[in-house]
Parts: sequence; C-alpha cells; structure tokens
Amino acid sequence: MRSSVLSFACFAAIAPLCAAAPNISKPLSSKQILPSNFKPPQVFKNANLVRNVNLEKSYPRETVNVVIENIDSSPQSEYYLPFEPGTIERIGGLEVRDKKNAEAGPFQVETAEYDSYSPTEFYLIHLPTPLASKAQQTLSISYNVLSALSPLPTAIAQTDKQYLQYTFSAHTPSAYSTDNQKTKLKFPSSDVPDYTIIPGTSGSTSEDPQVQGSSFTYGPYEKTPAGSTLPVTVRYEFTKPVLHTAHLQRDIYVSHWGGAMMVEELYNPLMNIGAKLKEQFSRVEWQRAAYYNPPSAALKEMKFPLTPGSSDAYVVDDIGNVSTTHWRSGPREALLELRPRYPIFGDWRYKFQVGWNAELKEYLRNIGGDRFVLKVPFIEGPKMSEGLEYERVEVRVILPEGATNVEFSTSIPTLTNSTTLYRTYMDTVGRTTLTLVAQNVVDGQRESDLYITYEYPWTAGFRKPLTIFTGLVAVFGATWAIGQLDVSIGKKNV
Ligand SMILES: *[C@@H]1O[C@H](CO)[C@@H](O)[C@H](O)[C@H]1NC(C)=O
Ligand SMILES: *[C@@H]1O[C@H](CO)[C@@H](O)[C@H](O)[C@H]1NC(C)=O
Ligand SMILES: *[C@@H]1O[C@H](CO)[C@@H](O)[C@H](O)[C@H]1NC(C)=O
Repeated sequence: MRSSVLSFACFAAIAPLCAAAPNISKPLSSKQILPSNFKPPQVFKNANLVRNVNLEKSYPRETVNVVIENIDSSPQSEYYLPFEPGTIERIGGLEVRDKKNAEAGPFQVETAEYDSYSPTEFYLIHLPTPLASKAQQTLSISYNVLSALSPLPTAIAQTDKQYLQYTFSAHTPSAYSTDNQKTKLKFPSSDVPDYTIIPGTSGSTSEDPQVQGSSFTYGPYEKTPAGSTLPVTVRYEFTKPVLHTAHLQRDIYVSHWGGAMMVEELYNPLMNIGAKLKEQFSRVEWQRAAYYNPPSAALKEMKFPLTPGSSDAYVVDDIGNVSTTHWRSGPREALLELRPRYPIFGDWRYKFQVGWNAELKEYLRNIGGDRFVLKVPFIEGPKMSEGLEYERVEVRVILPEGATNVEFSTSIPTLTNSTTLYRTYMDTVGRTTLTLVAQNVVDGQRESDLYITYEYPWTAGFRKPLTIFTGLVAVFGATWAIGQLDVSIGKKNV
C-alpha cells in the first residue's frame, strides 16, 4: 500500500498542477438546429401550471408542475420548453418526469437552437409514449438557474447583511397557451424589503403577490397566451456567501496494481459572487465579530464529506500547504474541513487544490472475465448549506495502462467525452484516460454517480512491474558497470 501511495506521489508531481486557464466561453453543444422561421407547433395547451422557485440557496431552483393536454387531432410526443433570452446557457440539472409516475425515470430532453441568432431557445422534451388527442399528462420539470442572482447594494460593510435580487417572469415562459398558472417563491427568511407589486384587475382579483412569511405567490393568472411575460423583481436577505466555481478539474487515478485510487481536484478558482466589501478588510474587526459567530457574507469554511476509508487528504493553494485544514478519518466517516487562509468576501477568489487517496475496492467491481465497472461520484466537492455552483467541470479518469473498451454512463449531462492515452514516465503505452466535460453543475448533484466499464486483461497487470523490473536491471547494470569502472580507475591511480 505504501509503495502505491509513493508511486502516486511521483505521478502527481509530474501531472501538471494547474492546466492553462480554462476557456469558459464555449457554448452549450446543441443537438437540434431549428430554421429561423420555426415556431413550436401549437399542438398542446397547459391546462394548469404551478411553478415553485426556491431561493434558499445561492442558485434558484425551479420546479414546474404542469398538466399538458394534446389539443391536436393526432398523438403528439414533442413538447418545447422555452427559456428567456440569455438564460438557456445558465440552466443546469434539467430533469423532466411524469409527476404521477416518478419511478418511470427521467424523460429524454435535448436542446434546440435556431440556426441564426434568436433570443429564445428551447429544450425539447420527448414524451416516452405519444400523448393521444385530448389526453392529459402531468409533467414535473425541474432545473437550476446559475449566475442568476445579483447583490444589491453591490458593496456592503464587513458585518452588514447582504441582499440579493432576482428578476424573472411571473408568467412562466411557455411555447403554449396556459389556462391557469401561478408562481410560488420560497425565500431564506421573511426579510424581503423589495418586490414588484402587480395591481389587481378590475377589483375582482386582489393584488399580487400574496405574502405568507417567507412564501410569496404570484397569480393565479388565467388564459395567458404562448410567449406571455410579466417581469417581476424581488430583493431579499441572503447573508451567506454566493459560491461559484468557474472551473473544476477533477482527476481520478486508478491503479489495479496498488489497489488504490487517488483523487485530485483543482478549483480554478472558487469565487464569492456576492456583494463586495465597501472598505478595506479589517482583521481586528473580523476577529472581534468571530466571538459572536454572526451570519456573514464571507466564506469561512468548507466541508468535504468523503467516502469512509479515504486517507492522506491535503489542501494546497498558491502559497503552499493549507495547515488550517482538519482531516478526520475513521471507519464510518471521512471529513475534510478546509479553512482558507482568509475569509472570502464578495468579488474575492480562491484557487486551491485538494487531494486524497482511497481504497479501490470501494469503487471497483469485476463483472466477469476481464471486465470491470468503476462507480465514482461525478463531483465530490464541498457540501454547503448555502449551495455551490460549478460553471464548468472536467472529470478525467485515468485508468491503468492496457485498459480498453471504455464506456460510461452518468445522469449528469456531458458536453463532450473522449478517450485518450495519458503517458507518464514509467508507462510503456500510456494510461487510458476518459475525459468528460459538463456545464452548470451544482453541489445538489453530489449524489450523481459516474459508471465506467472497461476491459483490463490480466496480462496488462504485469506490464508495470515488468517495466520497473527492466528499469531496475538497467540501473543495477549501470551501477555495476560504474563500480567496475571505479575499481579499474582506482587500480590505475594506485
Ligand atoms: C475561447 O474560445 C473562443 C472560441 O473558441 C475564442 O474566440 C476565444 O478567444 C477563447 N478565449 C481564450 C481566453 O482563449
Ligand atoms: C505539505 O504537507 C505534507 C504532509 O502534511 C508534506 O509531506 C509536504 O512536504 C508539505 N508540502 C509543502 C510544500 O510544504
Ligand atoms: C460521447 O460523445 C459522442 C460524440 O463525440 C456522442 O455521440 C456520444 O453519445 C457520447 N456518449 C455519451 C455516453 O454521452
């Protein structure tokens, strides 16, 4: 075991610590291209729609429960879901299920884009069985909206409360007409100083929203046409960090030979996108306030719950080892508590790398013959009550040399996937490496696993020891030759 950790250490030293600055302007890959004159066929209507917007975390999570009805004369299976201009590339974790049959699993969805620029873009939902004419089905559509909240005021004092603002349409964007709909909001607290008030219509309906503590309701609205919008803005207290990772590089090294797995994660960088500090940071004031431990808009600590049995965890930043890290590891728990060197206030960024070792047997199964299946979490980063969003995640799984026929599956939508060879100093052919890129991932998806199957013939296992053996023979051979030489020189000198 020790030797495998050692060989990992060498390996890690050779792997580049920080890849070049990631290019994060790459657009979401699209599967359906629509002609510029495309309009979703009006074959559905929404009989009833209830949208829940949860603002308790640093990214809004929306769930739309909608009863759809086929108003066409033939069965239909393609339901278009539009997003407001500039929003679709910030949507993550979109999932559609049958509300009345949730076990049936998520429906197939893909993005649909116009061939030329258009402010509106769609997700296209494929109903698993076409909906008969006049029939109804209840869909539950949920997704996260990233980079959606802006602090107001944009700068605050060190101990001030922080307020965030969210603007959206109180008419849920839809490609179809909607008979009846409402939008419910859930805030972190009842401290909501500003919100758009919509006057009641002709005295019959009361004004919007209806307020009950930390829950607000806009609507009900009747007979809203396709494409209808009703912009509203809310501003609410959120005195917690607003955490955003621009790029996460997650590398998983698998070694059958050592029975070990090593994980390295580079947060490049982690940012607090909340309100900036109005004045210079005062450590004296910070330490004085720490005594009362008040809510703060700064990030103080991150907790990484890891798989029990994980070991040798470390944290490195631009300065070096972060010694204020606590590492607890036992048979039932493995927890990495990372305290950055300074509290991370709004507009500040922190670039760091964490790593740890794990026992491969917790993750790997032989499924007969030379075939293996590896099951690892897609992300394993900090678990934060305030939430953490990832703009872009690159996961590299570095399999042993000689692994072939690599296949994968995960519930997190991937933008790209590729299998390449990764050569290190001791390798003869290079390690088989699977690289996956995903966008708009949140910490709420920590439970999503990545399954990888591959073939690894038992003879391939000998390759590394053989390489080392051959290497050692060469080294001893050289030493012996030098020794001979020394002796002969010595003899000459005498
Ligand atoms: C990122 O990629 C886009 C398109 O591929 C390119 O135009 C842009 O210059 C790149 N940015 C950086 C910083 O490399
Ligand atoms: C970081 O800490 C580890 C163990 O705690 C130690 O082996 C390593 O040498 C340290 N690295 C630096 C750069 O201080
Ligand atoms: C991997 O990428 C290819 C395109 O390069 C795509 O056709 C395939 O569906 C992807 N595989 C998975 C499992 O997403």
